Amino acid sequence: MDVEDINTVAVLGAGNMGHGIAEVAAIAGYDVAMRDIKEEFVQNGYEQIEWSLGKLAEKDRLSEDEADAALARVTPVVEMEEAVGDADVIIEAVPEQMDIKKDVYGEVEEYAPDRALFATNTSSLSITELAGVTERPEQFCGMHFFNPPVRMDLVEVISGAETAEDTLEAIEQLAEAFDKSPVRVHKDEPGFIVNRILVPLMNEACWLVSEDDATIAEVDSTTKYGMGLPMGSFELADLTGIDVGYHVLEYMHEVLGEAYEPSPLFESKVESEELGKKTGKGFYDYDNGGVDIPT
Ligand code: 3HC
Repeated sequence: MDVEDINTVAVLGAGNMGHGIAEVAAIAGYDVAMRDIKEEFVQNGYEQIEWSLGKLAEKDRLSEDEADAALARVTPVVEMEEAVGDADVIIEAVPEQMDIKKDVYGEVEEYAPDRALFATNTSSLSITELAGVTERPEQFCGMHFFNPPVRMDLVEVISGAETAEDTLEAIEQLAEAFDKSPVRVHKDEPGFIVNRILVPLMNEACWLVSEDDATIAEVDSTTKYGMGLPMGSFELADLTGIDVGYHVLEYMHEVLGEAYEPSPLFESKVESEELGKKTGKGFYDYDNGGVDIPT
């Protein structure tokens, strides 16, 4: 399939990444079906797109008319058949757990047209293993966006063992049509490139605090003002979702070994369901707008 043949995009998952990817596709002029398993999840994702488009218009990154037109291109959907039945490309952004993703692909395969390309937004999981539950591993690859998708330029395009070259090229061209910069990842290893570097950085920051060697505020000041990253490690973990980073790390630990052992602080945040901005509390407290500085 060539990029010119792509007209309709389905995005599975309306969470942080799913709604952001749907927004990016809609801004680029594609008709998008955004699907989640419950009406309230899809509605929440839709409202977040509405908020984000409003912000982009407020900051003159889009005109009001462009923002309205993008929103009109997004169709919130709960039924899988309605979401993927006429899709040229299906971008999956459901929770970062192998079993959940495999179940979703079983259902997608039932309704997706033969021509459709499957692109997973997994942050770390094996593309080859996920592709193996479908009947089209040559039409399957990774398409990994970064949070917030509407602001981050990079997209990792990851080849599985059986991905066809023309699938990778079509997805790279689609990323460019989305106004992103694709980078090809040749090796299907946990965390690919960005998360292989970024998640251990977050974990190491947690180890420092777990072992009482530094405070969260000290670590974040250092990463932001000393290393020149746009956000502190804890601030970024709160933005992306502490559970997302944790699942990536667990998988890296399982496949790559001891060096990736999760720190007690990382683990405790997931256990207590303090997952960052999306739950109102993570390493920082967002109930009052996220201004509390933890020690
Ligand atoms: N849509 C629209 N506007 C948004 C937004 C969104 N999704 N998210 C934030 N904004 C708004 C803010 O509300 C703020 O508006 P305000 O000024 O009215 O309060 C405004 O954008 C801030 O934008 P600025 O350009 O003024 O601020 P920055 O220059 O700080 O840019 C940023 C914001 C682009 C988010 C920057 O801080 C950044 O690059 N942060 C790092 C993000 C990052 O590293 N992401 C990768 C994470 S890893 C990942 O996603 C992989 C996964 O697999 C774990």
